[in-house]
Amino acid sequence: MSKPEIIICRDVDELNRDAAAQFIASANAAIARAGRFTVALSGGSTPKALYSLLASPAYIDRIDWSRTHLFWGDERCVPPDHPESNFRMVREALLSKIQIPGQNIHRMAGEKKPNEAAADYESELRNFFALGPGHLPRFDLILLGLGEDGHTASLFPGSAALDEGKHLVATTYVEKLKAHRLTLTLPVINAAAQVTFLVAGQSKSAVVKEILGSDSHLCSYPATKVNPTDGWLTWLITADAAASLPS
Ligand code: 6PG
Repeated sequence: MSKPEIIICRDVDELNRDAAAQFIASANAAIARAGRFTVALSGGSTPKALYSLLASPAYIDRIDWSRTHLFWGDERCVPPDHPESNFRMVREALLSKIQIPGQNIHRMAGEKKPNEAAADYESELRNFFALGPGHLPRFDLILLGLGEDGHTASLFPGSAALDEGKHLVATTYVEKLKAHRLTLTLPVINAAAQVTFLVAGQSKSAVVKEILGSDSHLCSYPATKVNPTDGWLTWLITADAAASLPS
């Protein structure tokens, strides 16, 4: 496990430019190596600006979308046109503006029964990555966010999904949100070649300090369990989110 790379960005614009540069570098390297780029997108509000940037004139032609396969790291159990849908967020910010083959878009079916949707997505991953029994998919890049409670993807503190070691996709009921979620499991996240956290906003400074500060060894939030086995871990953090970190 490599030591995480922590990059403090002046503001969200710089964070999005750095994230876009990394996305393009990962895409080009993977396509050169394997003929395709596989990325699991993060939900929530923070990455929306990155997706919009990737679809902007300055970036849109720097990625071979025909060889890019988009997956989701997690989803809310709602229909794809629901305001809370992570798929909808990505469609509005990115998919509606780029030319990408439909078969390259691998969304989680939030509208289905959670267990059914999780089983379907697991089959899709096993087929797409041509996995043998017990094997894990190796994403080229997984983007993650961070909740103020230390959750990432839809791996929440105390959730049984955190201990899932067999399945690639789990469902979880989040009591405080009164909602079901679908999420990639930790073994899948930690099998990736590159995992990048995108963290912005002063509201995240307390949890960032707990996870990356001098007492990080005392912290057991879900996000601390993200340690790629044979890959890179990068934290892209805005200065206000990093405000409580020791200089
Ligand atoms: C989701 C996410 C979740 C998110 C964090 C941070 O579906 O909500 O995948 O893990 O990344 O909750 O959310 P914000 O970026 O909105 O702060």
